[in-house]
Amino acid sequence: MRTLIFRNNDEMPSLGLGTWKSEPGEVYAAVKTAIEEGYRHIDCAPVYANEKEVGQAIADCMAEGTVSRDELWITSKLWNNAHAKADVVPALKQTLRDLQLDYLDLYLIHWAVASKKEVIFPQTATDLVSLNDIPLTETWKGMEEAVQAGLTKHIGVSNFGMENINKILANSSIKPEMNQVECHPYHPQNELFTFCREHGIHLTAYSPLGSFDRPDVFKAENEPNILKDSTIGAIARSNNVSAAQILISWALHRGTSVIPKSVNANRIAENLQAELVILSEDDMSAINHIGKDYQYVNGQFWVLEGGPYSLEDVWA
Ligand code: A2P
Repeated sequence: MRTLIFRNNDEMPSLGLGTWKSEPGEVYAAVKTAIEEGYRHIDCAPVYANEKEVGQAIADCMAEGTVSRDELWITSKLWNNAHAKADVVPALKQTLRDLQLDYLDLYLIHWAVASKKEVIFPQTATDLVSLNDIPLTETWKGMEEAVQAGLTKHIGVSNFGMENINKILANSSIKPEMNQVECHPYHPQNELFTFCREHGIHLTAYSPLGSFDRPDVFKAENEPNILKDSTIGAIARSNNVSAAQILISWALHRGTSVIPKSVNANRIAENLQAELVILSEDDMSAINHIGKDYQYVNGQFWVLEGGPYSLEDVWA
């Protein structure tokens, strides 16, 4: 299994199971099946509203002897309403209780966007808090405390652009080791990927299959479906594998981590088999030259009239 090596030589399995949009009632079976099939990396977040069920599946797999804690890589994320320094460790402790774990392998700031403590999804501008009031560097100090307290082995960010990463790099004793962002051939993040690599930061690709199960409110009309892309389809046929497997394999060949979500046992297994796909340089080049540019999760939901964030701020 391909891995990404962290600064202390810890190894994260590059291919993980995504759990965003996996409903309670179906995510338990998905996580259990995934671990039984051989997945060793599960990507979680409290805002997915399913961590308790994910935790039960992990606990049952460990109790049944399928896997031990040290063989698993568990990532979770700090939600926007807990950016104040004093709120970080309590938020992480709640996630650990829900996941039934003593520590995480990786904890990420979910977005470079802050909201009031009582607000999960902001509806109006006043639900949001400006980064001038809770700077990312303050949140990062809480993340560093979490490492020092032994609650997580590694820390990083998600949905961060270069400017926001630079703010943290300039004001940290523990440097971020991961940036988890939307990444697929329609949004390959070439510049950000290079920047992260230069700073010893790994990249995890979310929405690698285009996340067509997103809620309709987050979808635009006539979105391109990357799973039906003709170039991807042709390469899939010539390699005798599925389009999803090509997309996952492309991410692995680039040296990113990738976290396809599925709650379907056959597709969970199919996605893991993408580890075995070998893409030629010509295949990689053809994918890298598809030339279509589309971001499925564009962050527009943080841009509220009169609020502190523009779209440029969100991705700064
Ligand atoms: P399901 O959960 O029913 O398998 P992303 O990882 O980009 O967020 O995409 C997740 C979406 O892709 C879900 O709708 C998921 O459906 C679907 N999906 C996952 N694996 C595959 C696959 N191998 N082939 C086709 N669709 C897939």
